[in-house]
Order: sequence, then structure tokens, then C-alpha cells
Amino acid sequence: MRFIILTLFPEFFHSPLSSSMLKKGQERGAVSFEIVNIRDFATDKHRTTDDTPYGGGEGMVMKPEPIVAALDSLGSGSDRPYRILLSPQGCPLHQARVEELARKPTLALVCGRYEGVDARVSHFVDEELSIGDYVLSGGEVAALVVVDAVSRLVPGTLGSPASTSAESFSDGLLEYPHYTRPAEFRGLRVPDVLLSGDHAAIARWRRQESLRRTWERRPDLLSRARLSDEDRAFLRSIGARLDG
Ligand code: ADE
Repeated sequence: MRFIILTLFPEFFHSPLSSSMLKKGQERGAVSFEIVNIRDFATDKHRTTDDTPYGGGEGMVMKPEPIVAALDSLGSGSDRPYRILLSPQGCPLHQARVEELARKPTLALVCGRYEGVDARVSHFVDEELSIGDYVLSGGEVAALVVVDAVSRLVPGTLGSPASTSAESFSDGLLEYPHYTRPAEFRGLRVPDVLLSGDHAAIARWRRQESLRRTWERRPDLLSRARLSDEDRAFLRSIGARLDG
């Protein structure tokens, strides 16, 4: 999987892309990164990338020409990467979309600055994506979130074939709680069932804790989750109300 990041701050990415999973993913040849400096596509002598907003107001707006020239330089036809503009006005990112993005051969991620990007840029991207309902100082952090969430689903990025199917959100539920040694820590004991060696009982407990957590913390997720009759019976037993 190839990522191309278009930014005014290339240095922002140096450390995150050379640490941990993303470093290993590159060493294994599973993912690759190219950083494109949008300023290199400004044509005036001051290499200007922003300007004051038409209609007045605070802040500066990123000019469309350097961004679109940078995107056009990345290839067309079958070489054209899938183009994403990171923006708080975009569609909210969630795990199902991450899974779809992980199937694209190349993603081009355009990082805007927080005051905004000329609205005409949206005609030159395939989608606008937000990582949540809060405003960041720029799209760089958001691009890294996309890179991390997508990369870990690309085969070969994580060391062992990760069981991503048991994780939070993969079936629309939050994940069950995890424990490791010691069996007791500051008076808090690991649930007995996890020490029992009874694999069927452990699997049942984990499913139920996943359901309980989702009901307690994110009841909005339950209406879209894949639930069995047994799941529904358990949820009713803890007083959860289910729609439909
Ligand atoms: N740029 C600024 N805030 C953002 C957000 N929440 N998501 C994506 N890009 C952004």
C-alpha cells in the first residue's frame, strides 16, 4: 500500500513514520510513504500557498493552484491515486471506511490548514474526511490517524497476522477488557473465569463483557451491531433496551 502525503509541513511526519509499526511495515515492504511539499508547486517568486479570504474575515485560506498542481503531478489514469482531503467538514471516519480504504492501492492525503482550503479543491479530490468533531490546527495529525488505522490492516504491516476480527468495532461492538499478570494488583483481582482454563466459558464471558461495555459506554453502537439471539437475551438480562 502506497501513501502520498501532501503537506506544507513535511518535517511533521519524519518521526511518526520512522517509529514502531509504520517503520516495520516499510521494512517489510507492506507500506510505503512519499511526502510532497505543497510549497514546491507554488509558482510565484515568494512560493505563496495562502491568501486572504474573499469576502473578508480572519485568517488565511490555502490557494487552490499549488494543491491541485501537486495532485496532478501524482499521476492519472490507472496511476491516479485515490485522493482524500482531510477536513473537519468531511465525512466522519469510522472502522468500516478504514477497511475500504485499506483495499485501495494508493492513497493521496491532502493536509489543509485549519482556517481552510479554497472550496474549489473539493472538486479535485475523491472525498473529504474528518477524524472527529473537533478542530485541529491542520490536517497533518488527521492524515497520520488515517495512515495508522489503514496501515495496520494491510497484510504484513503488523508482525504476527493480527486478529483484527476480534477488535473493537470489527463487529460493531467495543472490545472486552484485557488483563495480564499479576492476578491481583492493588486489591483488584483478574476475573476468575480468565484463570479457569475453560475456553468456552472465557469466550462467553468476553462476548458478554463486550456487550455490557458497549451498552454502558456507547449504546448508539448497539442498534447497528450484529447480534445473536443469545446476545439479545444477555442484553435484556442487564436491563439494556434494544430498538427493533
Ligand atoms: N483538519 C482540522 N481538523 C480536522 C479534523 N477534525 N479532521 C480532519 N482534518 C482536520
